[in-house]
Amino acid sequence: MLVFGGTRSSGLAWAVSKALNSEVGKSEIKTFPDGEKYVKLGNKVAGIECAVIQSVRTNDDFVELLLMLDALRDGGATQVHAVTPYMAYMRQDKRFTEGEALSAKTVLKVIHELADSITMVNCHFLNEGGEAVFNHVNFMNLDAIPLLVQEMAQHAKVPVVIAPDKGSVGYAKEAATLLDCEFNHLSKKRLSGTEVTIKSKELDVKGKDVIILDDIISTGGTIVEAVKIIRGWHPASISVGCVHGLFLNGTDSFKGVADRLISTDTLDNPVGKVSVAPIIAADLRR
Ligand code: R5P
Repeated sequence: MLVFGGTRSSGLAWAVSKALNSEVGKSEIKTFPDGEKYVKLGNKVAGIECAVIQSVRTNDDFVELLLMLDALRDGGATQVHAVTPYMAYMRQDKRFTEGEALSAKTVLKVIHELADSITMVNCHFLNEGGEAVFNHVNFMNLDAIPLLVQEMAQHAKVPVVIAPDKGSVGYAKEAATLLDCEFNHLSKKRLSGTEVTIKSKELDVKGKDVIILDDIISTGGTIVEAVKIIRGWHPASISVGCVHGLFLNGTDSFKGVADRLISTDTLDNPVGKVSVAPIIAADLRR
């Protein structure tokens, strides 16, 4: 297999190729002055099974992914696998008001048109890993929570897992099962794209090592609010973990807030210490 990396995931593509003992595909990727993308494959791919690893955080990442997938098809690859560890636009999988575009459907539909398989890591609208179908598109949803928990457990003598909102309680439950400890969740109300309020009755975390888990940290507003509330209940420590660390405002806002902050490497960031390369490699081996 040849594993190509888009610019968003070149390091991860290298790690996956290494885990698979396969070659990293060469490509030239440029942006024209007007913002258009240019992609040129540097390998002959006819008769070869290929994968593109490209997290999609921006619209540019998406276009780059599509160009790479189509170039592989045009080049005669036997199979073309799209691996999008972080996949933007998955937050709108429902229509809340008439006329809204269903972004999750649109994006998946387009990738499905160009790839033989699609793999994501902790897709936002799903609560568990495994094969999934959304609007007639089949894809694989890999679960990085066990990898995160394994790392976070090292710093938690008396763990208790808390989800910052009801939507993430599935992850908290999964982590608590792995750690054989209790879990709970707070209640979040989103006021705007950057503002949230969090409410909760007091939870019994005194003297315990709190693990807060969320799938995505975007601006960090949710987690910072959650930590502030939990800190008032006198835990021994607070560790924060997420699968997809966008950290749009950087990670400085967490300094002096959480005792530890960790994410996976689905996106490049300073705390992305848990690699999802092994689970992606295992999926591509199937
Ligand atoms: C929301 O449903 C997600 O699970 C995260 O809680 C959210 O994306 C975090 O956003 P932010 O870091 O901007 O508060």
